[in-house]
Amino acid sequence: MISPHGLFPQRPGDIDMTLQVDASSPSPENLPLPPGKSGLPLLGETLEFLRSSRAFIQRRQSQYGPVFRSHVLGSPTVFLLGPEAIQWIFAGEGKYLKNRWTPGVRQLLGAHCLSMIEGEEHLERRRLLAPHFSYATMRGFVPTIEAIATRHFERWAALPGDFTLWPAMRELAFEIALALIFGQDTVDVPFLMRHFKSWTAGLFVPVTVNLPWTTFGRALAAKKAMVGYLEQVVSERQSRTEQPPDLLGSLIQSRDEAGNPLTREVIVDELQLLLFAGHDTTVTATSNLLLMLAQYPDVLQRGREAVAGLQGPLTLDGLRAMPYLVQLLNEGMRLIPPIGGAFRVTTRDVAYNGYRIPKGWMIPVSIKSAHGGSTWSAPERFDPDRFGSERNEQKKPGTFIPFGGGPRICLGQHFAMVEMSVMLALLLKHYTWELVPGQDLEYVQVPFPHPKSGIQLRVRRLG
Ligand code: HEM
Repeated sequence: MISPHGLFPQRPGDIDMTLQVDASSPSPENLPLPPGKSGLPLLGETLEFLRSSRAFIQRRQSQYGPVFRSHVLGSPTVFLLGPEAIQWIFAGEGKYLKNRWTPGVRQLLGAHCLSMIEGEEHLERRRLLAPHFSYATMRGFVPTIEAIATRHFERWAALPGDFTLWPAMRELAFEIALALIFGQDTVDVPFLMRHFKSWTAGLFVPVTVNLPWTTFGRALAAKKAMVGYLEQVVSERQSRTEQPPDLLGSLIQSRDEAGNPLTREVIVDELQLLLFAGHDTTVTATSNLLLMLAQYPDVLQRGREAVAGLQGPLTLDGLRAMPYLVQLLNEGMRLIPPIGGAFRVTTRDVAYNGYRIPKGWMIPVSIKSAHGGSTWSAPERFDPDRFGSERNEQKKPGTFIPFGGGPRICLGQHFAMVEMSVMLALLLKHYTWELVPGQDLEYVQVPFPHPKSGIQLRVRRLG
C-alpha cells in the first residue's frame, strides 16, 4: 500500500497536529501530582533509570499505572505511557512542551542547530532544509547511494576472513551523509570520523566533567577540532561565486526576510548535527537488522525472494515495488529503535488525565516502550509480517515511532528509509553473511544499542 506521501506508507509517527488536546481544561491548579516518588536528594532515581530504563518503567507502570512521577537526570519527571500519551506529547510541542536535551547533549551539540532552536526559527530552518530530504532529491540520489554502498560491500566480501560490521557500516553511512551534505567536495573523512567517535561517546555520559582524561572532556576536545575543521570548509565554500546544489550550498545561500545570510557559526552547528544524526542512526538500524536476519534464516529467505526480480541499477520506483524491504526495516527498528527515546519539558502547568504536571518538569518520549506496548502481538518476537497489509499491526497512531513525531519528527526519515532500502536490497540480492561463532552478542544500550562484539561477520558475494 503506497500513500500519496511518497515511497513509503505514511508513518503513524506523523501525528495529526490538528488533534484536539485538552491542555487548558480542566485547570491544572487543583489537581494532584501523579503517583510516584522523588528518590534520593539530588540524584533522585537516576541510577536505577540508567541501569535499565525498560525495567525502571515496567516496575513503576505495574505499581502506579501509565502515569507516574519520578526524579531522573537532574529533573522532576513525569512518565506518560501508551499511544494516547505519545500523541498528547507530540501535539504539545510549542504549546505546553518544548524540546529538552540531557546536559551532555546540550554542551556537545551547537546551540544554533535545528535540535536546539524553537518556534518560528525552528520551522523556518526545517523549511530551508526540507528540499534536500524530499523524494525528488532522493530519486536523484539513489545511484550515489548504490555506488558508495556497492564499493563498500565488495570490499567486505573480498576480505579473506571475518570483520566487525559496526565500524565498517559507520564508514559507509558516514560517506553517504557526506555526499548528501558536501556533494562532490572532498573532505578529510578519517579526521572527521575519528573525532566523531570521541564526540559521540560523550553524548550520553551521566557525569559531564570537562577534564582531559574523562570521556566527556575528550568529547569536548573532539568538538573543538571538528568545529575548527568545518569552519575552514564553510569559509572556502563561502569564497566561491557559485554554490553547487548540495545541502551546504543551500545553507550558504539562505537569506532571512531582511536579506541576511546564516552566520558561519550557525552553518557549522547545523553541519555537525546533520553529520551526527545522519549516520549513527542508520548504522544502528541496518547493523542490528543484519544480525536479526542472520539469526532468522526463514525471514532472510523471504527477503531474498522479495528482491529476486531486481535487475539493473536500483531506482526509487524499483524500491517501491518491494514493500517487504520496508517491513524488514520497520520490524528491525520496532524491536531495537536506534533512538530509544527523547525528552520534553513543560512550559507551563498542564493537566493530563486528572493529574497536574507543573511547569519545568521533564516528560520522556519512550520510543522503546511504545514499540513494546500491548497493541503489538508477541512484541518481543522478530516478525516482519506484522507490518504486512494483512495484519498491519501499526495502524494505531503513537505505537510505532522510530522517527519521533510532531513538529520535531526526524527530518531525515525518508532519506534514511531510502538509504537503508538500497543497502538492504543490494545485500539481499548479491551477498551472503554469517555470524562468526562464539562472539559476545549481549547488548549495550549507550550511545546506540549494539552487541558488545560489534557483530563479527563473514560476507561473501553470491553467484
Ligand atoms: C534509522 C535512521 C534514523 C532514526 C531512527 C532517526 C530518529 C530520529 C528521532 C527519533 C528524532 C526525533 C528526536 C526528538 O523527538 O527530539 C530525529 C530527529 C532528527 N533527525 Fe533523525 N533519525 C534517523 C536518520 C536521520 C538522518 C539520515 C538524518 C539526516 C541526514 C536525520 C536528521 C534528523 C534531524 C535534523 C532531526 C532533528 C529534527 C528537529 O528537531 O526538527 N535523521 N531522528
